[in-house]
Amino acid sequence: MTKFKTLDDIGDLTGKVALVRVDLNLPMQDAHVTDDTRVRASAPTILELSAKGAKVLLLAHFGRPGGEKVSTMSVSMTLDALQEVLGREVMFVPEIAGPVVAQSIGILAPGDIALLENTRFWKGEERNDPDLAKAIAANADIYVNDAFSAAHRAHASTEGLAHLLPAYAGRSMEAELKALEKALGDPVRPVAAVVGGAKVSSKLDVLTHLVTKVDHLIIGGGMANTFLAARGVSVGKSLCEHELAATCEQILDAADKSGCTVHLPYDVVVAKEFAANPPSLRICNVHEVAEDEMILDVGPQATEALADVLKTCRTLVWNGPLGAFETEPFDAATVALAKSAAALTKEDALVSVAGGGDTVAALAHAGVAQDFSYISTAGGAFLEWMEGKDLPGVTALQTA
Ligand code: 3PG
Repeated sequence: MTKFKTLDDIGDLTGKVALVRVDLNLPMQDAHVTDDTRVRASAPTILELSAKGAKVLLLAHFGRPGGEKVSTMSVSMTLDALQEVLGREVMFVPEIAGPVVAQSIGILAPGDIALLENTRFWKGEERNDPDLAKAIAANADIYVNDAFSAAHRAHASTEGLAHLLPAYAGRSMEAELKALEKALGDPVRPVAAVVGGAKVSSKLDVLTHLVTKVDHLIIGGGMANTFLAARGVSVGKSLCEHELAATCEQILDAADKSGCTVHLPYDVVVAKEFAANPPSLRICNVHEVAEDEMILDVGPQATEALADVLKTCRTLVWNGPLGAFETEPFDAATVALAKSAAALTKEDALVSVAGGGDTVAALAHAGVAQDFSYISTAGGAFLEWMEGKDLPGVTALQTA
């Protein structure tokens, strides 16, 4: 397990300046935050540092402005959400380094909080330019990274700063790393992974890594069609990457060699058109899909069998829905299996960790997000972690 310092290793900070990397890359509509989950995730860290007397400077990116000052991507748009979640006034500073930041620090009282501008407005951020990192660090005493979801980026604010100041993991980063360690680092076995989503091509590295780590790999979504087709099943007009047949075979071989059982659906929900409750909807065996039908969800029998697999497991990692869950009734398998996982978690029979954009939405849709052991706020970083990659922002916090 990665060793890192946490806020427990910090004493009184009265008057000291704490730079805190948070993730404010939030869903927005008309310049208003529509989901403040990431703000709520970092609030404990911000408030704890403030309570220790620090002048807290928040660093974050929003969007991909590519080193230009794009006014529609100012992080000041998140100020209202921040103030509301924190229940505190937050000063906005339109710079990340230099005299303007220094002057603002002069105005702040111990415990006050300020938000610095979008780090990606400066070219040096994404290049991890040591000069930019030095200029940012010059105004501060300590660095706290609470943005696991941006830790797959080796940027000045996520990686470079950790080498220039005493560096600590924030509470959300700490919780995230502990949960992920429990799920794949040093899990209680047997371990199951659910990997769903549209395309095998976007999760090749995830699948290749997981078959060496888990005991059961449950494949759903459009990805399952590609595996079924590789096994010679006719999938009709389903979403399918036929050109990846050989790759799927390699993954299945690797699974065999590592003793990982791969679960593909044996009954499926099909329809001739992709619409809510279409008249052509039917459930059939995977070998009975007609040429003009498409597979849109895992069938009820396979779903029940998968729930039985989960009952034999102690740990579950979940990324991606099993079917086209945004359209009814193709959410059924995802909802049913998520409910089974949640029930087992509640009984303390299963440690369940989920992450990745669609996954969180799917579990929320199933009404069980709060019943999982841990739900990651990360998208890309969660996937890279599932691929077994080192995350630069995490590695930089490592102390031994
Ligand atoms: C995210 O939203 O997943 C993170 O903030 C990373 O954003 P990025 O993909 O633009 O680096």
